[in-house]
Amino acid sequence: MNSDVKEVLITANKIKARIKELGQEISKDYSNKFPLLICVLRGAFLFLGDLVREIDIPLSIDFMAISSYNGQTESSGQVKILKDLETPIDKRDVIVIEDIVDTGLTMDAITRLLITRKPKSIKICTLLDKAERRKININIDYYGFRIPNKFVIGYGLDYEEKYRNLPFIGELKEEVYKGGINKKDGK
Ligand code: IMP
Ligand code: MG
Repeated sequence: MNSDVKEVLITANKIKARIKELGQEISKDYSNKFPLLICVLRGAFLFLGDLVREIDIPLSIDFMAISSYNGQTESSGQVKILKDLETPIDKRDVIVIEDIVDTGLTMDAITRLLITRKPKSIKICTLLDKAERRKININIDYYGFRIPNKFVIGYGLDYEEKYRNLPFIGELKEEVYKGGINKKDGK
């Protein structure tokens, strides 16, 4: 598995340190509130798990899974709900937890969908931000790291469902995805 990694971009220690900072920031911003953290499955599962342990105010969590890629190499901007939330979000202070914002189309579609359910507030927290790939302007409230336009894996992120268990963020070797990145959905 490690031999498929071209380069480690962010080490496990750097991820840990940055998540600690994000946790402190969120704890401060939401003091006296009871935020609902929505984890977008599957890529954000490790990020959510580590982030909540760095937040020292009461919170609740929920999970949603969406499909966004429609078998294309790029996001479609349409999201299909594969697994919906179990928590009503009206009047809640929602923070959407994502692994990576690339074109921004998925996050834009998710926030538009959640807004229809009338949360009190909604913010976006992503571990990674591939800002130069953005196709739509979205406001990211918290991010862990800005990364260059490289296909990355590890710490929750996959290529064809592999590599999520790597403890670091690495760039995938080109020869592994020879024919091009052809993800079926935004998992
Ligand atoms: P967007 O709609 O283009 O912003 O796509 C976001 C989704 O695409 C993320 O939630 C990931 O699931 C996936 N994605 C985008 N870039 C990468 C990458 O470099 N590695 C793994 N997944 C990625
Ligand atoms: Mg994702």
